[in-house]
Amino acid sequence: MSAETGRTTQATPTGHGHGKVILVGEHAVVYGHPALAAGLSVGVAARAWPGSGRLRVPAWGLEAAAGDDTPVGRALAAIARRLEAPALDFDVEAELPSRAGLGSSAALAVAIARATAVAVGRAADDGAVDAAVDEAEAIFHGNPSGIDAAAAKSGAAGRFTRADGWRPVPVRQAIRLCIGLSGRPRDTAAQVAAVGRLRERLRVADDILATLGKLADDAAEALGLGDIDGLGRTFDAAHGLLCALRVSGPELDALVHTARGAGAIGAKLTGAGGGGAVIALAPGHERDVLARWQDAGFAGFIAEIAATGAVPS
Ligand code: MEV
Repeated sequence: MSAETGRTTQATPTGHGHGKVILVGEHAVVYGHPALAAGLSVGVAARAWPGSGRLRVPAWGLEAAAGDDTPVGRALAAIARRLEAPALDFDVEAELPSRAGLGSSAALAVAIARATAVAVGRAADDGAVDAAVDEAEAIFHGNPSGIDAAAAKSGAAGRFTRADGWRPVPVRQAIRLCIGLSGRPRDTAAQVAAVGRLRERLRVADDILATLGKLADDAAEALGLGDIDGLGRTFDAAHGLLCALRVSGPELDALVHTARGAGAIGAKLTGAGGGGAVIALAPGHERDVLARWQDAGFAGFIAEIAATGAVPS
């Protein structure tokens, strides 16, 4: 019995979703091009109890109820409907910041859907769980590509396209990423809509999106070969192209340039942009990058993408 809640914790239905970073290919993936992403070891864990459909995420200061008129309330109702679940309450522990471009909403949806599935006796990888997560993500973001949900489920590195879904990619050598937080919340739906409008007014926008997709495949190849310099080059090129798509911003550019000044061999915004986070590759200089970000007023942390073993030649 938990002293805090008075609830029996043994065999409580639980679900977990990983945070994610898009290494290369955000926005391009919306238009059918590939993107390369990796699940983070940090994420979101949900515990479910019979209740009245209430959700608490203390780390985000978030409370909602299934069916209330908030995106989270509507997503909760959608997940319960898809999984034919009775009213459940959820306590959620979040190790990720919310609205930082690190897949917090997808991680939340996956954690809740998985906990709900367990509560109603379904397998956590039941197809209805995927449908529930997709519906929740559509409530949060309009018309998402699905990459955030796929990475939240996988937790490892993968290549994603709308046509083929998520395919794991080999990682020859573990990668340490510096993740810098702009402090400005990102709004994925608004950023995706802005790129959609730009496509109507900038003739090369589709070429830029296609090039970002090619860079995603170059980045996947670099991961498989353990070519850290090559991966860094794709980060820098991708950030330039995302600036051309107008999805960067002053804080994100400052984080990128500060990281490069502290020894990073590649840095870019990650996720939808506008606000949110950047990633930087700075082998041997990770602490310098975090210190320089801190001096500039930005929080950051280090995340690792685990090696999957040698790549067959
Ligand atoms: C958001 O994490 C990634 C975007 O490409 C949107 C999407 O794929 O749904 C910007």
